[in-house]
Amino acid sequence: MDASLRNRIDAAVQSIRGFTGAAPELGIVLGSGLGFLADEVGQAVEIPYGAIGGFPQSTAPGHAGRLIVGSLFGRTAALMQGRFHLYEGHSPANVALPIYVLAALGMRELVVTNAAGGLNGDFDAGDVMMITDHMNFTGSNPLIGPNEESMGPRFPDMSRAYAPDLARRAHEAARRASVDLRAGIYAAVAGPALETSAERRFFRMAGADAIGMSTVHEVIAAAHLGIPVLGLSAITNKATGGPDQQPDTIEEVLENAGIAGAKIGRILAALFQKAGA
Ligand code: HPA
Repeated sequence: MDASLRNRIDAAVQSIRGFTGAAPELGIVLGSGLGFLADEVGQAVEIPYGAIGGFPQSTAPGHAGRLIVGSLFGRTAALMQGRFHLYEGHSPANVALPIYVLAALGMRELVVTNAAGGLNGDFDAGDVMMITDHMNFTGSNPLIGPNEESMGPRFPDMSRAYAPDLARRAHEAARRASVDLRAGIYAAVAGPALETSAERRFFRMAGADAIGMSTVHEVIAAAHLGIPVLGLSAITNKATGGPDQQPDTIEEVLENAGIAGAKIGRILAALFQKAGA
C-alpha cells in the first residue's frame, strides 16, 4: 500500500462523512445477484460509488455500485452493493480499498458473499457454502508494495482468515433458519473467462469446493486489519469439469444467486438479529 492509497482511503471516508455520521459496526459485501439484502436496510443512506472520492467504479452485471449505510438486523451496517474485480481491470489494491474504508468508518466484523461455481460434486446450484478457507489463484495480492504499518503487519497471518467463532455461530444460525449450509474451500481466479474443465478438475484435486473471481483480496485486507470475516458463497452453477459438465451462462448464475441469496439473507438475519430488534 503506497501513500496515495492512504490518501484515497482518507478521501473516501471524508466523502462518506458528507452523507452520514454513522459508524457501521458490520460490513457486508454483496456478490453478484445478492444485492437484494440492501432493500432491508432501515434509515438507509445510499451513496453511489461515483460520489465517493478515491473509490473505483463498478462495471460488473448484477452490481449496482453503491454503499448503503443504515440499520440491518438491529445493527448499524454498511453494505457494498457491488464490488471491484480484477477482471474489470482494477488493481488488487483497488479491489481491497473499500475494506480499509469500512474499517476506518468503524467496522468490527465483515461478511463477504459471492457467486461461485461448485467444484464439489455434492453441491447443487442454489446451495449456500460457508467459506472455511480460501486458495488465492489470482496470482496477485493487494498488499504487494510498501506496508502501511498503521493498518497492519507486513506479513499478516492467514491461518484463520475466516473466523472460526463466526463460522460456528453461522452454522447454528443456519440451523435455526432451516437452511442446509454447506462448508468448504473457495478458490479464486482472476477471470473473466470461466475455467476450463481441466482447470476445474485440477482445483478440485487441490482441495477446493467452490470457485469464483472475487473475495480473496478483500479477505486479505481484513486479515491485515485484524477484522474477523464470515464468508458465504452462493453456488450458482455446477463446475465439476466432469463428463456431464454443462456450459455456464450468466443467466443461470444470476438466477441461482437469487435462490441462494435468499438463504444467505435468512442465515444472516438469524446470526445477527439482536433480541427485540
Ligand atoms: N467460476 C468462476 N466464477 C464463478 C463461477 C464459476 O463457475 N460461477 C459463478 N462465479
